[in-house]
Amino acid sequence: MRFSTLTQRVAGRGAEAWRIHFLATQKARTGADVIFLTVGEPDFDTPPPVVEEAVRSMRAGNTHYTDIVGFPRLRQAIAEWHEKTTGQKVGADQVVVAAGAQNALFSAMQMLAGPGDEVITPDPRYSTYEAVVGATGATLVSVPLLPEQGFHLDLQALKAAITPRTRVILINSPHNPTGAALRRAEVEAIAALAQQHDLWLVSDEVYAALSFEAPHVSPASLPGMAERTVVVSSLSKSHAMTGWRVGWAIGPVELARHLHNLFLCMLYGSPGFIQDAALAAIRDASGEVETMRETYRRRRDLVAPWLDRLRGLSCRLPDGGMFCMVDCRESGLTSQEFALRLLEEQSVAILPGDGFGHQAEGFLRISLGLPDEQLVEACRRIEAFCQRLSGAGVRRARG
Ligand SMILES: Cc1ncc(COP(=O)(O)O)c(C=O)c1O
Repeated sequence: MRFSTLTQRVAGRGAEAWRIHFLATQKARTGADVIFLTVGEPDFDTPPPVVEEAVRSMRAGNTHYTDIVGFPRLRQAIAEWHEKTTGQKVGADQVVVAAGAQNALFSAMQMLAGPGDEVITPDPRYSTYEAVVGATGATLVSVPLLPEQGFHLDLQALKAAITPRTRVILINSPHNPTGAALRRAEVEAIAALAQQHDLWLVSDEVYAALSFEAPHVSPASLPGMAERTVVVSSLSKSHAMTGWRVGWAIGPVELARHLHNLFLCMLYGSPGFIQDAALAAIRDASGEVETMRETYRRRRDLVAPWLDRLRGLSCRLPDGGMFCMVDCRESGLTSQEFALRLLEEQSVAILPGDGFGHQAEGFLRISLGLPDEQLVEACRRIEAFCQRLSGAGVRRARG
């Protein structure tokens, strides 16, 4: 039987990026002690008051159809959280509750771009973006994030990539996989281009609460950007709620109306008890968010300098998020070879960078979503692997 062309447009490099992870899962099933540094999954439990609220709500009978784009009280709370974290004042009618940032991004992109349009997004990029753009029928146009500039955007390249067909620039900061956060001047320059060329700017801010170096800068907060910016975010990373599938898109009221129509024929509203739990998370769990951020920062400070000292590797401190990007170009192995051999020889699973785009060939993505002891053990194993590779191991004196 024949399937639609959508099946091809959603099957891309993103699916390939996870090959090592699946191999590692098979290996773990055979009883091997595999350390998974692959998935961006927080190892924290969801804060207990959030779980309690979900249970209370479910017991209270909140198990029926709900408002299509979210309870007004949750949309209001998200609007307030957004103002607190980005500085942009928005109304509840600009907020659409979705099944995670991924669902919000997919849905919003369907409303902004279509066949014949171009969507510009930096390379490397989060592995789903190719399919998200592909599903709209638009063409994805890559602009490089340069490794030698700490994976910051080449603004000239961005400018040069804009054509009359460009409809959207899609950015993500702090960035997955590189951990780089856009500086205010960069966000301003991107916003200026969006205004000059009358483009949408979609900003994926799922790691905004995990900014270590400087406060997160959202383009939504800049003058003249409200009418053309869509922010997607969620509680997945900030509140360790990946499995709850709750996130949102925030943009102009008209976008919210279009998303309402889309959700009428697709999601049909997030479960009521999940929405109540989300409300509890936003209202009562800001202390937990602080704790998580500080924990990721501590882990970053443990892992990145350790790997940076190993022969064949270098690793910059990420500005935010839950990943370190390790440069293995001096090891003599490609990122695929490095990841495969590390899994075979030391049972440590990490993702090769090339699954995230051409610019990340020669890099490895390491998740910080494991307790410190396991991260230490993983670093020891990576060190042993590098020692065997080079016969020496440590490149620079520790201290
Ligand atoms: C950059 C980025 N955007 C979106 C998502 C999806 O987040 P959610 O779980 O809220 O759908 C992720 C998840 O890893 C991500 O890294």
